[in-house]
Amino acid sequence: MCRDTARHVISLSDLSDVDIRRIVARGGEFARGAAAGLRPQPTLAGSVIGLYFSRTSTRTRTAFSAGALRLGASVVAYGPGDLQLNTGETSEDTGRVLAGMLDALVARTAGDPAEMRAWARQERMAVVNAMSADEHPTQALADLTTLAGQFGAVDGLRLLYVGEGNNTAAALALGLSRYPGVRLDLRTPPGYGLAAEIRDRAAAAAAASGAVIRERHDMAELPADAEVVYTARWQTTGTSKPDPDWRAVFDPFRVTTAVMSAMPKAVFMHDLPAHRGEEVDAEVLDGPASIAFTQAESKMYSAMAVLEWCHGAG
Ligand code: CP
Repeated sequence: MCRDTARHVISLSDLSDVDIRRIVARGGEFARGAAAGLRPQPTLAGSVIGLYFSRTSTRTRTAFSAGALRLGASVVAYGPGDLQLNTGETSEDTGRVLAGMLDALVARTAGDPAEMRAWARQERMAVVNAMSADEHPTQALADLTTLAGQFGAVDGLRLLYVGEGNNTAAALALGLSRYPGVRLDLRTPPGYGLAAEIRDRAAAAAAASGAVIRERHDMAELPADAEVVYTARWQTTGTSKPDPDWRAVFDPFRVTTAVMSAMPKAVFMHDLPAHRGEEVDAEVLDGPASIAFTQAESKMYSAMAVLEWCHGAG
């Protein structure tokens, strides 16, 4: 990639409002182009993208692989046992070496973002967080792209998130907090809410933009005017819950047909994978209000937009 300084996407907090809107708009262009049967221009021809996933993934890994290939880039894929990180090579050395060979590294890890920040301590290779313990920024960019496609704009939307305050919820809060007039209500099980540091960052961004981010730990007084109900599975990839009775705490936070009927105008979103009968009833996920599978497809269009942005577009 012909850039002097690599552009990283490790947290949504790394991106300006303009960056986020550009990536969302470009993802929408790719989605509309695909719907019209158009093939994208090979804007990444000659680039080489590394994909390092130390945790399982269906959507994100395929979205970035297929997206890179559709834009003309080549892909090098590493599984959890492939890099010398496993034998003690430092993250800094790994980043320096890969930066001499790759244009971008898309990575999913179970750890905190410090490892990705270490890889990003060079100027040549973009580092993209495909999910870390604290945040799933490319999921939120895809979700914003889906929302913009569904509603025409994200500004002013009213959303309800039900479930664990996990990395998907964190990214959603950080992303939506940038949009004026947005109202995000989170209903998270007691003890499983947003991390305080994420809540504070989202609150600061919301105060600046005019968004509202609210969190409660019960399912009473659901917002009847919500336009979107969003949930995620209870067992976040790469994590486990030490409390053996955690299911009893999560049980009231299931998105049922009764929950959806309290918000009759709402569409249903889910980052997937789903466990029908746990976080969501099958009748909701597979019902007419669900846009979860459109949301999944938009991950590829959004990934293409992220890779182009890292390449220097916009
Ligand atoms: N939503 C999501 O990140 O899916 P994968 O874990 O399959 O990538």
